[in-house]
Amino acid sequence: MAVRKIAEYPEEVLFKVGAAVDTFDEELEKLCEDMFETMYQAEGVGLAAPQIGVSLRLFVMDCDGIKLVAANPEILKTEGEQSGQEGCLSIGRVPAVVVRPNKVVMRAQNLKGEWYEQEVEGLAARCILHETDHCDGKLFINYLPKLRKEMVIKKFLKEKRK
Ligand code: NI
Repeated sequence: MAVRKIAEYPEEVLFKVGAAVDTFDEELEKLCEDMFETMYQAEGVGLAAPQIGVSLRLFVMDCDGIKLVAANPEILKTEGEQSGQEGCLSIGRVPAVVVRPNKVVMRAQNLKGEWYEQEVEGLAARCILHETDHCDGKLFINYLPKLRKEMVIKKFLKEKRK
């Protein structure tokens, strides 16, 4: 296992739609181990493959007692609304309030390639939506009003220069 370098805004890989995961082998298992280790070290609750420079539709999460690997995630259903602080390891965790659905049903494949459905709410739902967006080249700042988005980016770049 190894801690990988986290890709940061505005690296191009963060804006690319990931390729579908089609090989469920030992290599994928190792990649996910690295992703968990990188996520834990950064004290995050979710991490998507593009965030370590691997352009795949794949993420890991350990949030609210729910630990999972999601390959080729699809959001099947959303319900309700929640408003809360969100941040991203690729944008220096500068927080901003994002409105998201409160409940989510996700369909994804595990490390064996088996499809499963996961129903979550609250923080875990926020996490699944945030990480699925990463798989599709989208960042949480896309949901912010223009000025707020610019503020987050400015703050992140300023912190980074220190
Ligand atoms: Ni993120």
